[in-house]
Amino acid sequence: MPEALVTGATAGIGAVFARRLASDGFGLVLVARDADRLERTAAALRAEHGVPVEVLAADLATDAGITRVEQRVATVDLVVNNAGFGQRGDFLDTDVAAELDMLRVHCEAVLRITKAALPGLLARRRGGVINVASVAAFFSRGTYSASKAWVVTFSDSVREEVRGSGVHVMALCPGWVRTEFHERSGMDTSGIPRSLWLDGETLVAAAIRDFRRGTAVSVPDVRYKTAAVLGKLLPRPLLTRIAARTGSRH
Ligand SMILES: NC(=O)c1ccc[n+]([C@@H]2O[C@H](COP(=O)([O-])OP(=O)(O)OC[C@H]3O[C@@H](n4cnc5c(N)ncnc54)[C@H](OP(=O)(O)O)[C@@H]3O)[C@@H](O)[C@H]2O)c1
Repeated sequence: MPEALVTGATAGIGAVFARRLASDGFGLVLVARDADRLERTAAALRAEHGVPVEVLAADLATDAGITRVEQRVATVDLVVNNAGFGQRGDFLDTDVAAELDMLRVHCEAVLRITKAALPGLLARRRGGVINVASVAAFFSRGTYSASKAWVVTFSDSVREEVRGSGVHVMALCPGWVRTEFHERSGMDTSGIPRSLWLDGETLVAAAIRDFRRGTAVSVPDVRYKTAAVLGKLLPRPLLTRIAARTGSRH
């Protein structure tokens, strides 16, 4: 039975990945900080899909937490580096410790878990890594978008290194998805038009389809594909002004 490890698997996009992969017949390793919630999530998945589900309580903003996942990931077939969080406010007002936690969870954990998974994946010549970035990667707005731009560039570069090996590495760039993300970071989402919200199940189905096709950077939904293209075409100063204005509204 193939095995997948999903970080941030107890809520939002990660929970949807876990459900979808369990229904596809993957055994799972679920990672998050809240141990009770991990156990509840695992029990529900075992009961519903009859697959083995292991839990790994780890804080990916800490060296010890990342090390625990590195030690487990060597034998899995698919890694979904999904854990992450948002940040409200301007850089000048944020707490430096929170900024550094974000870099650890979004960048250091993704780097170290990917590096620990690759030797096993390459030896078996199959499977791969999905790194969850964001459409924010294509705009300049704080450490969040900078860290997600790193995820896209990093995934691109590793994918090229493993090309032809049977292993695939993909960055996934979601737009707005209703999860716990916005409430956790204290963002005001009231001004976001209803039409811009993506459904989690549809997003994950598109991501898995793109992964199987060997897509480099998956941007589900035509509106966000357009935003990503604009992010590459518009002059950078203009783009940055738009991103700053939009970001400060939320
Ligand atoms: N929702 C959106 O609109 C959106 C858009 C674009 C990209 N994304 C990206 O999608 C990913 C998932 O976000 P989401 O919206 O699903 O968020 P969410 O609903 O808030 O879920 C976050 C998950 O990550 C875990 N987590 C958070 N911090 C962690 C840490 N330090 N160590 C280990 N696990 C941690 C949480 O569990 P614990 O609290 O128990 O640790 C939870 O399982 C993130 O990378 C986010 O940047 C989201």
